[in-house]
Amino acid sequence: MINKKFYIENYGCQMNISDSEIVSSILNNKGFIKTENLKEANIILINTCSIRDKSDKKIILRIKFIIKKNNDILIGILGCMAYKFKNIKEKKLINLVVGPDSYREIPNLINNFFKKKGGYISTSFSKTETYADILPKREEKKITAFVTIMRGCDNMCTFCVVPFTRGREKSRDPYSIIKECKFLFKKGYKEIILLGQNVDSYLWYGGGLKKNFKRKEIINEEIINFSKLLELVAISVPLMRIRFCTSNPNDMSDHVLNVIKKYINICKHIHLPVQSGSNRILLLMNRKHKYEDYILLINKIKNIIPNCSISCDIITGFCNENSNDHNETLNLINYVKYNFSYMFLYSHRIGTYAYKKLIDNVSLSTKKRRLTEIINLQKTHSYYRNRKYIGSIQEILIEGISTKNINFFYGRNSVNDIVIFTKKNYKIGDFIKVKINNCTSATLAGDNYD
Ligand code: 5AD
Ligand code: SF4
Repeated sequence: MINKKFYIENYGCQMNISDSEIVSSILNNKGFIKTENLKEANIILINTCSIRDKSDKKIILRIKFIIKKNNDILIGILGCMAYKFKNIKEKKLINLVVGPDSYREIPNLINNFFKKKGGYISTSFSKTETYADILPKREEKKITAFVTIMRGCDNMCTFCVVPFTRGREKSRDPYSIIKECKFLFKKGYKEIILLGQNVDSYLWYGGGLKKNFKRKEIINEEIINFSKLLELVAISVPLMRIRFCTSNPNDMSDHVLNVIKKYINICKHIHLPVQSGSNRILLLMNRKHKYEDYILLINKIKNIIPNCSISCDIITGFCNENSNDHNETLNLINYVKYNFSYMFLYSHRIGTYAYKKLIDNVSLSTKKRRLTEIINLQKTHSYYRNRKYIGSIQEILIEGISTKNINFFYGRNSVNDIVIFTKKNYKIGDFIKVKINNCTSATLAGDNYD
């Protein structure tokens, strides 16, 4: 008799959290029980991310640690790092390797393992799998829910593993998305984050994706693109906050901006990765936008949605980046004055075009120095942006108790800033008004404004 308790450990981005929820649901439906206690489980699944680096070495160390503490268990690697683990020398430690398109096979693979039947690797890609019919099993804290709307990416940025680990773009059918959003509202969730590697290229038309389909050729009324989907979601759950992530400068349309402006429940925040401010580097990265295009888009956003906050991802020290390129990135940051940024040191990732064809020739010390300069500049802008809120009244969704002081709650305003304020009689999940009276570069602080 198999003990069917599983524990799932998650590394990486929001997409991974969402995938773990899908896996939990698939296992639950087949009689497996999720436990939050590692020691109780005999099935331990590690959902890994190779985009925001958690090195395989660290994962192997973690697995060795788990094995030492628990006997007679199954260890499975899931997610986009799975492709790497097929070939590593520590393979014997791992009993199951499952890529992002094969989660439905996990129950069978686990049963086979315990029946000693073999065949434990499944990492093939599917052109259609979006898990549309699966209702993710979410955490109990019902505030924010991730709703995956599309999977994979076709953009082939040369530094990025996503096209190889998650496969080609495929959009989930809009009816299942709307149904899930309405269900979440009924369950008491307050906020939805629509997720995809490149949400702006969301595209669905009756029946899903056809073979050899070319986007420009379609003039079918049934087509639903991202602006339409966003609008449908905003209308379907008018009392919920809607966020979305990640946008791509090359694919973001005016329609999307107009929808964001039109609906009060769509948060006025756009995460718009730029990666570099140098056209030479953008070309090497195979980004489809130039410095000038990006600036035009920023100006357009500011024009259409004046209070919109903008954040971004930046990579420093990409192959062949020189001090001139770096200065152009600093210039761009200076122009945009992002509300916040995720800033990364470039690291060569196996399987990417850059890994195969370019040389990782910026020294680590130069990368670190450039990253420090970028971080310091960003901090001044985050502080500058935050200071502008002092004296204003912001609507905050309460997300939890502040880790620094239990007498305070933290939450977010519409533009995604974290705000700290005294608890009073409110509870997590409430929307309240807070008057901002102080800030750092990372947070706003204020008092309840009744
Ligand atoms: N090195 C450093 N940062 C990377 N990212 C993606 N691939 C790499 C890499 N090889 C960053 C990009 C992307 C974010 C999710 O992770 O900035 O937008
Ligand atoms: Fe990776 Fe580029 Fe796709 Fe983003 S847009 S997931 S960086 S390939």
